[in-house]
Amino acid sequence: MTPTNAVADALVLFGATGDLAKRKLYPALYHLERRGRLELPVIGVGRSAWDHSDLHDYARKSVEAAIKASGDTVDEDALNRLIGRLRMVSGEYAEAATFATLAAELKGSNTPAFYLAIPPELFPTIVKGLESSGLNKGARIVVEKPFGRDLASARALNDTLHEVFDESSIFRIDHYLGKESVENLLVFRFTNSYLEPIWNRNYVDNVQITMAESFGVEGRGGFYDSVGAIRDVVQNHLLQVVAYLAMEPPVGASADQLRNEKVKVLTAMEPLDCDRLVRGQYVGYRDEDGVKPDSTVETFAAMSLQIDSWRWAGVPFYVRAGKGLATSALEAVVELKEPPRMLFSGADSSPPARNVIRFRMGQRNDGVTMTVNVKEPGDATVTHAVDLSVDFDSTLGERREAYERLLDDAIAGDARRFAREDSVDEAWRIVDPALAEPGELFFYERGSWGPPQADDILGGDSWYPPIS
Ligand code: BG6
Repeated sequence: MTPTNAVADALVLFGATGDLAKRKLYPALYHLERRGRLELPVIGVGRSAWDHSDLHDYARKSVEAAIKASGDTVDEDALNRLIGRLRMVSGEYAEAATFATLAAELKGSNTPAFYLAIPPELFPTIVKGLESSGLNKGARIVVEKPFGRDLASARALNDTLHEVFDESSIFRIDHYLGKESVENLLVFRFTNSYLEPIWNRNYVDNVQITMAESFGVEGRGGFYDSVGAIRDVVQNHLLQVVAYLAMEPPVGASADQLRNEKVKVLTAMEPLDCDRLVRGQYVGYRDEDGVKPDSTVETFAAMSLQIDSWRWAGVPFYVRAGKGLATSALEAVVELKEPPRMLFSGADSSPPARNVIRFRMGQRNDGVTMTVNVKEPGDATVTHAVDLSVDFDSTLGERREAYERLLDDAIAGDARRFAREDSVDEAWRIVDPALAEPGELFFYERGSWGPPQADDILGGDSWYPPIS
């Protein structure tokens, strides 16, 4: 068993010729190289008949495109150093020869990290290949989502991995756990002492999480049509956000202490049924490449979640996520209960607004905004809601991308930002009933806020439009 703190001495990317590697992994490796944090060989494995120089070209183009898109200029020295580390092994995953070539490339490595950026159907083949070639010894495995498509398949997948890898050597990626702005939820909650007394059902009226994407499925229609919004982002990313907002303070900073609290709050969450769920599909989705013409897969989901705990009983956690919406944003809004009004209830006064703490976690303008009431100038006791805002970009400067942080952690053997088996199981348990009986599907226009029926689950509350 590899202790989770053993530093990896080689990184192997299965799926090195694929889309995730191109969009996220090579740019992340480049940034690690640039910061002097990449000190190991990187071996790409893929089924395309590529040699080393094909991989070099692919990685170079991927980094150049990503850096150009971010408006920066490429650090050629760093890019060349990265390219110098890359080796290619091409072959079928089911063939022993592929693993023999990989073993030759890994000669001298005792603690390799295997990153599976490939569809989960291929996990068993690769895990078996690693075992038969003895490459699993001392190794850890990093697996991408989707981690199953329901509770039963996630458990089967775990069984497959556990036949060869101990749980402490399995690093399940949920890239939201690598986002600085998402991790800030923990820091903000547990280091600002004025929050703790109000962070419960006595003061919090409701919590709303919005993950909005203004774009559609962007060429991923075939994949997306086999999952839908609940599997794609709610079961993983958004339930992790709910857990960070709702969990109890961990008793210590270790990976397991943190993950123990996360799983506890997920365990307290009631399963989602279709009465508390509204599903939508944007008009035009069925015309996307790879999408079935009569698809009933949701591109939008809004739901009300209940946490049956001493801290949260009775406080709804509303979650909505969708593609083709009015804007792109990721926000969590914690709305406090109404203040008493007697003081300011004269004819010339307006009732004070509810206090709101808003976590802005998207790509643009991340930070925190708190809405408070102040007195408007003049004789009347009229209150005026104003925002107190922290903007992370201008206040904190450059932050590392999620994939860079997660690759760094996976290499270092730090499991804190990875999902443990029990929390993945709990998250599937929560959404499973809604997946089994999803209920009606409503259509919405692109550029809207989803189907109007999404308001019905709020029980008189209304959705906060994102401000980022
Ligand atoms: C991925 C989903 O996991 O997360 C995509 O498969 C989604 O559909 C993406 O667009 C969102 O990630 P981010 O970091 O852009 O919020």
